[in-house]
Amino acid sequence: MKNIIRLTTIIFLFSFTLSGCYYDKENELYPTKGNCDTIGVMTYSGSIAPIMVANCNICHSAGNPSGSVVTSNYDGLSIVAKTGQLWADVNWEGDPMPKGGDKLSVCDLAKIKKWVDAGSPNN
Ligand code: HEC
Repeated sequence: MKNIIRLTTIIFLFSFTLSGCYYDKENELYPTKGNCDTIGVMTYSGSIAPIMVANCNICHSAGNPSGSVVTSNYDGLSIVAKTGQLWADVNWEGDPMPKGGDKLSVCDLAKIKKWVDAGSPNN
């Protein structure tokens, strides 16, 4: 009887161990898999602008930019990219952005980092 209880407990605990990764997001675990491609050159038009559209431009449009920072066009974004503010803020080391929202995905952060490190080209 004791052995059966012990065995049941072990199976019970083991099943928890196995289910531990169930809710992980694939994009965060494997930034280069699926639709998240961080291999090769990151372009402003193809990689960075869409992230800004989805997360930033609502507050940083050219017409009414919060904090006088424009993310909706290359000229505005490249200014904060070159000062280091862009990376610091999206990486939550400076003034965390998007303000009041969730941190960008690991995949988006990797794209921005790569583009900034390449000198934030207008490509
Ligand atoms: C809900 C509105 C909102 C969103 C969304 C948002 N911002 Fe901001 N952002 C602000 C405000 C307001 C400021 C002015 C400074 C402050 O109040 O913190 C600011 C300031 C900034 C600054 C300058 C801060 C500094 O370091 O001096 C940068 C750079 C910036 N935002 C980038 C971004 C980026 C990139 C995104 C998207 C990932 C983003 N923001 C999304 C509202 C927003």
